[in-house]
Amino acid sequence: MALGTSSLTSLLFLVTSSLFLRSPFHVTNAQSYPPLVEGLSWDFYESSCPNLESIIRNQLTKVFSGSIGVAAGLLRLHFHDCFVQGCDGSVLLVGSASAPSEQDAPPNLTLQQAAFQTINDLRGIIEGQCGRVVSCADITTLAARDAVYLSGGPDYDVPLGRKDGLSFATINETLANLPPPTFNTSALLNSFATKNLNATDLVALSGCHTIGIGHCPSFTNRLYPNQDPTLDKTFANKLYGVCPTSNSTNFTVLDIRSPNKFDNKYHVDLLNRQGLFTSDQDLYSDNRTRGLVTSFAVNQDLFFAKFIYAITKMGQLSVLTGDEGEIRANCSVTNSDKSFLSGLVENEEIGLSQF
Ligand code: HEM
Ligand SMILES: *[C@@H]1O[C@H](CO)[C@@H](O)[C@H](O)[C@H]1NC(C)=O
Ligand SMILES: *[C@@H]1O[C@H](CO)[C@@H](O)[C@H](O)[C@H]1NC(C)=O
Ligand SMILES: *[C@@H]1O[C@H](CO)[C@@H](O)[C@H](O)[C@H]1NC(C)=O
Ligand SMILES: *[C@@H]1O[C@H](CO)[C@@H](O)[C@H](O)[C@H]1NC(C)=O
Ligand SMILES: *[C@@H]1O[C@H](CO)[C@@H](O)[C@H](O)[C@H]1NC(C)=O
Ligand SMILES: *[C@@H]1O[C@H](CO)[C@@H](O)[C@H](O)[C@H]1NC(C)=O
Ligand SMILES: *[C@@H]1O[C@H](CO)[C@@H](O)[C@H](O)[C@H]1NC(C)=O
Ligand SMILES: *[C@@H]1O[C@H](CO)[C@@H](O)[C@H](O)[C@H]1NC(C)=O
Repeated sequence: MALGTSSLTSLLFLVTSSLFLRSPFHVTNAQSYPPLVEGLSWDFYESSCPNLESIIRNQLTKVFSGSIGVAAGLLRLHFHDCFVQGCDGSVLLVGSASAPSEQDAPPNLTLQQAAFQTINDLRGIIEGQCGRVVSCADITTLAARDAVYLSGGPDYDVPLGRKDGLSFATINETLANLPPPTFNTSALLNSFATKNLNATDLVALSGCHTIGIGHCPSFTNRLYPNQDPTLDKTFANKLYGVCPTSNSTNFTVLDIRSPNKFDNKYHVDLLNRQGLFTSDQDLYSDNRTRGLVTSFAVNQDLFFAKFIYAITKMGQLSVLTGDEGEIRANCSVTNSDKSFLSGLVENEEIGLSQF
């Protein structure tokens, strides 16, 4: 009976989503949701950079074949970009001692430098083929999509046309917008509600933790001074081995069943009390989200469908379009930032006079 109900839900979902018209300009052939924001469209770069999506997919296929961990780094970058000041590429900006950026807030510690490098490399390759027409914010969004797909997850079309922001958020704004791993479900629901994301979105998006790693300080609140009773005992003992002290610099995988594969095993972990963070495991402890966790754990297609919906929505949080932003010449700095001067010497396209 339960199975029948969830199959029916998936069927209705597929029927509904297939009603949307598809643009011919895509590498994907998947379930997708049309743009929610005026100024964004699937075919934004159709004439200015027709091979954009295949350039990114080909390059990331190469990058991931060498180091699959970068996929998780790219996916997380997209989350941090969108939750702090919108999906405007601001997370990519490097700060300075006098003006610390989003990258300098504590959650940064663990943003992968390789992911930042991958975005900058992609930008260079794309500029080489199309000129400077694609924003770093769009590159980050497409890279996150490909991180999901190339890790075994669903494919989906991404509304495009974001512009890059002209400023970054302060450390305080960053901390206020990014939920820490010690949050319980109540706090997570509140945090996500401020982004107009609900319980279904929260449980689906938390499924990003089906790939990647976490460092000890992110989860030792569950080991010291007392062991979290919602933590499986055998799993807890393994974690004490990884983190002999709460501030150990060691790390471990977020999904013990299939750490590099984008699937519904994260939700299966939660059913078995093997979620790594408080923010993960509490989704199963709390009766407002437990049913959602279970439904995704038993039905991967349902998880994928809800995930695509939620990440497409997240990917359009407070985006800049049209004249609201710029196309950066270097994803790490705004075009007016003088600190970029050092990187300009060999770039013929930009005259120094503009600085
Ligand atoms: C629900 C609230 C969330 C919290 C509290 C949270 C927290 C965290 C923390 C603490 C880490 C590990 C940092 C470290 O110790 O190395 C992490 C890793 C990660 N997060 Fe989240 N996260 C959340 C939502 C998301 C979402 C929505 C996404 C994707 C859109 C995401 C994607 C990732 C990925 C892929 C990693 C692994 C990164 C890597 O391996 O380098 N997270 N998250
Ligand atoms: C992250 O933030 C901390 C604290 O603000 C800072 O000391 C550190 O240098 C930053 N790390 C990176 C990799 O940017
Ligand atoms: C950041 O927040 C802390 C604590 O909430 C506060 O003491 C500090 O003044 C804030 N800094 C800025 C620049 O707003
Ligand atoms: C969740 O955390 C908040 C803030 O830490 C706390 O006030 C609240 O009681 C917690 N809720 C539950 C259901 O544990
Ligand atoms: C979240 O919103 C979607 C529509 O945007 C809806 O289908 C879903 O039922 C909502 N989830 C919850 C738990 O209210
Ligand atoms: C970690 O914590 C231990 C004990 O609290 C302390 O002795 C040690 O200096 C800390 N190490 C770091 C790197 O902070
Ligand atoms: C890292 O983990 C290993 C076991 O996996 C442990 O022997 C070692 O002490 C840990 N190192 C630190 C700095 O916590
Ligand atoms: C959910 O749990 C809360 C306490 O944690 C309880 O008061 C409430 O009755 C439960 N609701 C359902 C529908 O089980
Ligand atoms: C981009 O800017 C960063 C930060 O100023 C700089 O370190 C880097 O060399 C620049 N990259 C290029 C390709 O100029």
